[in-house]
Amino acid sequence: TGRVTVRDLAAAKRRGEKWSMLTAYDAMTASAFDQAGINVLLVGDTMGDNHLGYDSTVPVTLEEVLFLAAAVVRGTRRALVIGDLPFGSYQRDAAQALRSATRLVKEAGVGAVKLEGGERSAAQIALMVGAGIPVMGHVGLTPQSVNMLGHRVQGRGETAARQLLRDAKAVRDAGAFAVVLEAVPGALAAEVTAALDIPTVGIGAGPDCDAQVLVWTDAAGMTEGRTPRFVKRYANVRRSLGDVARAYADEVATGAFPAPEHTYR
Ligand code: KIV
Ligand code: NA
Repeated sequence: TGRVTVRDLAAAKRRGEKWSMLTAYDAMTASAFDQAGINVLLVGDTMGDNHLGYDSTVPVTLEEVLFLAAAVVRGTRRALVIGDLPFGSYQRDAAQALRSATRLVKEAGVGAVKLEGGERSAAQIALMVGAGIPVMGHVGLTPQSVNMLGHRVQGRGETAARQLLRDAKAVRDAGAFAVVLEAVPGALAAEVTAALDIPTVGIGAGPDCDAQVLVWTDAAGMTEGRTPRFVKRYANVRRSLGDVARAYADEVATGAFPAPEHTYR
């Protein structure tokens, strides 16, 4: 296919070119991002709190990721689509991870998968990569562990910083093509980025990562209420959708819609 590949992303790091990733959970939104030139789309388990109405990513099932990832693949032509392995689909052992990742590749058509964890996920990463599936790692704040970690910045203090660097290197050594750094002090993210030959993808990890990722509903101003410090809102889509709904309902109530031009003769 003519899609972006993990080799393209490795080459971008060698050239010092930054790239961006957005989440996507449906075909139509994904197609808008694909046509806007976003090269990497993540069907993240953030679908849980953003798209499916759960309180966190923890309840998301592999079936749900499969269903929405297939839609994102169908809606795109160029982007590399990455399927997120949800909580419970890879932690037991490497064989379970390979089985789940294989379903994402074969049934949904994703080009790569992502999973959380550094040293604790190295065996899983190595088996999937050995089977020919490109894998993106994810260290720092790992939201599937929210019941252990809460929503705090990770890697603060010397001991935690050393562990985070070890985790990132374990992901790299296991064969991952890139690694997400989530909620990590900017200086530590810069150190990890310099230490690794694979791209780092920051979210709440400062400007020195090789790439950035945002949850699209956060970036578009669709999310209700407070968002973390690291989010930038580029639009207010939530307000725009409210405007659409109110204007439409008003015009129906007054009889202004449908007008003659909307009516078949
Ligand atoms: O699920 C997700 O959206 C993610 C990104 C925030 C990296 O894992
Ligand atoms: Na995720």
